This record gives sequence, structure tokens and C-alpha cells, in this order.
Amino acid sequence: QTARITVHPSFVVGEIDRRLFGSFVEHLGRAVYTGVFEPGHPAADADGFRRDVIDLTRELGTSVVRYPGGNFVSNYFWEDGVGPVDERPTRIDLAWRTIEPNTFGTDEFMRWARTAGVEPMLAVNLGTRGADAAANLVEYCNIPGGTTWSDRRRANGAEEPYGVKLWCLGNEMDGPWQIGHKTAEEYGRLASQAAQAMRRVDPTIEFVVCGSSGREIATFGEWERVVLEHTFDDVDYISVHAYYQERDGDRASFLGSAASFEAFLREVIATADAVAGRRRSDKRIRLSVDEWNVWYVDEFAGEENLDLREQPRLIEDVYSALDAVVAGDLLATLVRNADRVAVACVAQLVNVIAPMLTEPGGEAWKQTTFHPIALTAAHARGVALDARIEGPRLATAKHGDVSGVSGTVTWDAGSGSLVALLVNRTAEPVEARVEHLGFADVALAEASVIVGDDNVRGASSTDAAADLAARGAAAAPQPLDGVTTDGEVSTVVLPAESWSLVRFT
Ligand code: AHR
Repeated sequence: QTARITVHPSFVVGEIDRRLFGSFVEHLGRAVYTGVFEPGHPAADADGFRRDVIDLTRELGTSVVRYPGGNFVSNYFWEDGVGPVDERPTRIDLAWRTIEPNTFGTDEFMRWARTAGVEPMLAVNLGTRGADAAANLVEYCNIPGGTTWSDRRRANGAEEPYGVKLWCLGNEMDGPWQIGHKTAEEYGRLASQAAQAMRRVDPTIEFVVCGSSGREIATFGEWERVVLEHTFDDVDYISVHAYYQERDGDRASFLGSAASFEAFLREVIATADAVAGRRRSDKRIRLSVDEWNVWYVDEFAGEENLDLREQPRLIEDVYSALDAVVAGDLLATLVRNADRVAVACVAQLVNVIAPMLTEPGGEAWKQTTFHPIALTAAHARGVALDARIEGPRLATAKHGDVSGVSGTVTWDAGSGSLVALLVNRTAEPVEARVEHLGFADVALAEASVIVGDDNVRGASSTDAAADLAARGAAAAPQPLDGVTTDGEVSTVVLPAESWSLVRFT
């Protein structure tokens, strides 16, 4: 099989926003407790933050982190999580039926974000609360002082305001599972009111309004239209949530996931632009893909039947090499749509469907999916080029006939780095001819590959930590041999079911 990928420096899709390499920490399972926060752990700093997790977060290239949910936020009373720790109430988290001790809250998260060197992105509760609690949280975080909530923050030890720029107006409000689930009309009105109140506190902040929680949900499309009719003037971004898994051994459909993902992104963009057109507006709403990943959600038992526990091991998916190939393809797809995708968060950062796992009191390690994310974050810089692809097709039961090869090419004029992210979704090798027209002087700097031949997944509840760590390490990228470059043409043989990064300088 052969493929041809053509790029030219004049054909630019858009600037790659560093916020595409974001992640997400929810009060869910062990994402916070024994994930980022474990006082008494040998690697914990004075604040109780696990340094091993912070080191991996940095290595992952994480730019922005969304907090505190997720489904959790829809009944979260943020005031519970601030002030003297021994006075904070213990609550039942209704989303995940977990005992929430509130020993980690907004101030701890802000300190953690500063230590980890990431930008905070906060979500407000629009499930069981409204504009008042949301505006108060903006005041707590962003006003220097002299008002009730800003002075409360200062009394709690944070003299300087946090200056949180990105705010999510609730979470997955289209989902019937969401506490305080609403119709698009109800949510649209509430989101508009909340954004207006919050902006009166701090006019410099940006808003993400909830889009659909998946392409398959029945209200998708109409939800975006109605919500944006209400909030178009108030918001900057609309969210997209998308999770993929292999179902019933249908490997081809799983490998084609990113094609469906890309169609989903373009449909949301088209809907937002249709709302703009009706209003005769030049404003372009961009996407915040603030939950994306591989998630074996079918293996997750019904939320309503969970036992009430503290720090349960919830949805700790253990990933295979094939999962890493698909995750890499999903992230490359986000980069390729850099003109309209501004923010993206792999869900989540640690333990919960995450690129890294920890053992309470023990090690922290990389999962298979860590590798393509870290490499992409490190090297996909500058602008995304419009990569034209001709090559084999992949027949899938779920998404129809999709491209068998996906390609995303980035160009960073500052460092002179041209990077091709190439995915072979087919079951046979592909000889790819990359025509980098106008880039005649580049030389190969690095070529790495992850082959998805291992599709065996584990279980963090039963497998030993060392076995799980070995699984993650086994999917570490290997050198991709045999890349040849002659002027404006390079040739790369992409192994079957693989993700590759080829970098020229
Ligand atoms: O990331 C796990 C969950 O997935 C989030 O809480 C929710 O927003 C989504 O359904």
C-alpha cells in the first residue's frame, strides 16, 4: 500500500494554541486523592502534592488543567473546599457516590497548578446552583481584595488574586445522568445569565458553554444550536466531549475513531457558524474539546449502583499499545483543526482514564497513551499545515469508509522544525511519500513509532503495579528506521496499525 501526503508552507490551517495540550483533574475516584494529592506519601511536598505526579505532568507537556469536574461539579459547593481544613464539611458526592472530605479545594488546586506550571481552567456548578455562586467564585479567585469573597481568599493565605481566565459554564448539561440536567432552552438561559454575572465581576475572563457530551447523544446538533442562540454573545468557546473504545472486537472501527471525531468537530463548527450567520455576525465560536480520550465506558458499571466509599478505584482503565495509537490519532486530529480548536483536555490526568497511574503510598508511572501525547505536545508547535492525503481507505462498520492514513503536519518557523504525525489505521504497512513542497532544505532529526500490535489491557484493581508499569513502558516509542529524504520528498514506511512522529529541522 502507498500513500501521498502533501504540504506547502503557504497553506496554513492555523496557529497551534498551546492549550490543545491540556488535561483534567476531577474529584472522581483517585484523580485528586492519592493522585495529585497524597499528604504523607514519600514523594509529597509540604503541600501534600505528589512530586512524582507533578514531574510526569510536566513531562506530558500539560498546558492547562480543568477542575473540579466533570459530573462532580454539578452538585459542588465550592465554599466547602476553602478555609481551615479541619472546619470543612464531609459531603456525599452525588455524581460518583463518593465520600468527599473537601481537604483539597480551590486554593489547593491553584497552588498545585502553580507548582506544576499549568494554567487553571475552572468549571462552575450550573446543575444545582446558579449565577450567584458562580459570580462569587470569580470574585474569590480574581478580585485583588476589599470585598467579602476576595478578602476570604486573602484570609485563607492567598494574598494575590489567581487571575483564572478560562471558565466552564457547567458540565455536560445535556446528559440525563447529570445532576440538575436541563433542556437546551433551560441551560442556554442559565448559562447566559451566569456568564453575564461572572463577567461583571471580571470583564477579562473567557467562557466555555456546554456542547454535547457525545456525537451519539440524541440531542446533538439541536442542543448546540439552541444553546448558542441563547449564549452566542456571552461565550468564546463551546465544549466537545468525545470518548472512544473498541467494541465487540471491531478493531477497524476503533482504529477509525479519529475520523468520526473529526466529523464531530466539523459538525459543531458548522452549527456554531450557522448561528453566527443567522445573526449576521463575524464572531467565530471556537471549540474547547475539554474531555477526549479512549475510555472503555461499557466496562463501567451503572453509576447509581456504586457503593458509598472514600477514594474508590473508579474507571482506572489500563491501556494497550493499540489504545495509544488511537489516542495519538485523536490528538493529531485536534492539532489538524487548529484553526477552530483552541483548548483540549485529555480526560483525565491521573488514575481516572489517564495517561498515568499511581499506587497509594507507592509508585507513579506512565501508561501507553502517555507517549504519543507527550511527543505531540513537545514537538507540534507553530502552525498546522493543510496536509492533503491520498492513500488506502479503511472500511469500518461504524464510521463507513474512512482514510486509512491520517496525517497532521506542523511547521514552527522559529525553530525551523517540520513535524509529521502519521497514523496508519490499516492492517498492512503503508509506504508514505511525504511531499514537503517549499521545504527542500530540511533534514531528518527524529523518527519514532508506536505499533499497536498489543491490544491486551489490564486492570488496575487486580494487576500488580509493576506489571502495569511494564505495560506502559513496552509501548514507549521506538526508532522508525528507513526514513529517506531527497529534497522536497521523504519516504516513510508506516507499520500496520501504528502512530509515528517524523521530525525534520
Ligand atoms: O471524565 C469522566 C466523566 O466523563 C466526566 O465526569 C463527565 O463529564 C464525562 O461524562
